[in-house]
Amino acid sequence: MLCLSALVAGVEGASAQDTTASGDQTTLIAKGRYLATAADCAACHTAPHGGQPFAGGYGIQSPLGTIFSTNITPSTKDGIGAYSEADFARAVRDGVAKDGTHLYPAMPYTAYAKLTDEDIAALYAYFMHEVKPVDQVSSKTELPFPFSIRASMAVWNLLFLDTDRYQPDASKSAEWNRGAYLAEALEHCSTCHTPRNLFMAETGSKALGGGSLGSWYAPNITSDKIEGIGGWSDDELTQYLKTGHVAGKAQAAGPMAEAIENSLQHLNDDDIGAMVTYLKDIKPVSSGEAKARFDFGQPSEQAEATLRGLPGQAPEQNGFAIFSGTCAACHQVEGQGNKAYPSLFHNTATGGDRPDNLISTIVYGLHRTVGDQTAFMPGFGTDIAYPTDRLSDKDIADVSNYVLAQYGNPALKVTEADVLRIRQGGDKPLIVKLAPFAAPAMTAVVVIVLGLIVWLVMRRRPKAALN
Ligand code: HEC
Ligand code: HEC
Ligand code: HEC
Repeated sequence: MLCLSALVAGVEGASAQDTTASGDQTTLIAKGRYLATAADCAACHTAPHGGQPFAGGYGIQSPLGTIFSTNITPSTKDGIGAYSEADFARAVRDGVAKDGTHLYPAMPYTAYAKLTDEDIAALYAYFMHEVKPVDQVSSKTELPFPFSIRASMAVWNLLFLDTDRYQPDASKSAEWNRGAYLAEALEHCSTCHTPRNLFMAETGSKALGGGSLGSWYAPNITSDKIEGIGGWSDDELTQYLKTGHVAGKAQAAGPMAEAIENSLQHLNDDDIGAMVTYLKDIKPVSSGEAKARFDFGQPSEQAEATLRGLPGQAPEQNGFAIFSGTCAACHQVEGQGNKAYPSLFHNTATGGDRPDNLISTIVYGLHRTVGDQTAFMPGFGTDIAYPTDRLSDKDIADVSNYVLAQYGNPALKVTEADVLRIRQGGDKPLIVKLAPFAAPAMTAVVVIVLGLIVWLVMRRRPKAALN
């Protein structure tokens, strides 16, 4: 049996000389700071564009509606200043706040449930002693009925929450276990990369097999050689996790760019290495595809031909016009890219079995800062940044089809409806589609129950009258 403390060893800032009480406390806080980065608490609890650290108020777009993160600074007025370590542990691992209200799983307690007691203690020390208290009330979450009934989360937890702490696998190395602990408990990779069932709980049998986040799609990252990351070298995977860019393979946009920016780039090399070891060894998930998504396409000669005025298909003509006017300046005429901009072939966003990330990148763009380097592509689907460059849904569908036909998986086709769906946040899960019917259904139940009560009372009354 591996010792759990082996998993949490090797934290930066820890020093063997720190034997005094205050030294221990400093070490514990430093460890907590590293763990809070690995668990990416700031991603959700700090509002973007200059929000105060950990003061909450960031609206997370969920299929159920907007869920606001709370203030987790040690403010006794508006934050968690009055939380004991046990209260903190209960909120982070069990999803229940100090006052007993259930949290929505937008707070990834389903993953944090695996955190060890030692790590909870370090996180608590960090939040109580280093994070600056901020007196600021965060916006209130108001989901539509029936999701507004937080107590229903108790039933959901009973059905889907695995309350076990991380159990080291004694048949694997300490490095593997550290990687598993980081990926499963802290970094919560599965909350994005694992598909969800009808009730939006992760499907354990397909762990890390690929999941939809609405507009973006978090691909299969199991060890499968074709559909997962089994075909990536250890170095490529390490480089991706640290920088979000592997030439001739993949770039990180959207939520993955955020995970790298806020969390992964700050992890030490041993921890990244441990995660790579773990990912390369997990159970492959496959749906039987023949070609890896990074393997599609090549430089296009047809682009040259079209450029010289040779006839093409009608939608491709508009697609090509947009490509050459809007994309080629950076990705080059034959889609081959250059040192600063990636090629559009051998690019996981244009290969594979779905165009979601291609469409989302065109609609929302890409922004990722790692160290002092920023990768930036403007979004063409929103009118915030570049109003004059805004492309219509039809334009985005046409340029997507042009890119897929020339450089990616030509079997994929994008319609205007697909672009609209992505722009509106993607497909809604069934549970959300059914929600509008929940209110009438509940009303019907209430009416029937009321009817029964009235009927029972009416039946009794004559008797009572007779007595
Ligand atoms: C993916 C987004 C996300 C991440 C990452 C995240 N949280 Fe949360 N957290 C939330 C949301 C959203 C809520 C509020 C949920 C609700 O209202 O039901 C919340 C609530 C909480 C609460 C309850 C606070 C209260 O008011 O009672 C605590 C404590 C907390 N988070 C701590 C943490 C810590 C510590 C981390 C990192 C280890 C973390 N969270 C990471 C989204 C997140
Ligand atoms: C907040 C959601 C989220 C989290 C958390 C997350 N990912 Fe991702 N990941 C994504 C999305 C979305 C993409 C697709 C990005 C793109 O193509 O631009 C992605 C892409 C990837 C890729 C590249 C796959 C490819 O074929 O291009 C790898 C590898 C990866 N993630 C590994 C991880 C690991 C390991 C973790 C945990 C340490 C993790 N991710 C956590 C959402 C997430
Ligand atoms: C101003 C330069 C610029 C323009 C214009 C531009 N891009 Fe990009 N594109 C980038 C950069 C930078 C990246 C990311 C590089 C990185 O992450 O290392 C990128 C990445 C991508 C990706 C990969 C995204 C992913 O998730 O893996 C695709 C696909 C893409 N661009 C398509 C397009 C299309 C189609 C157009 C035209 C509608 C376009 N780009 C216009 C600079 C640009």
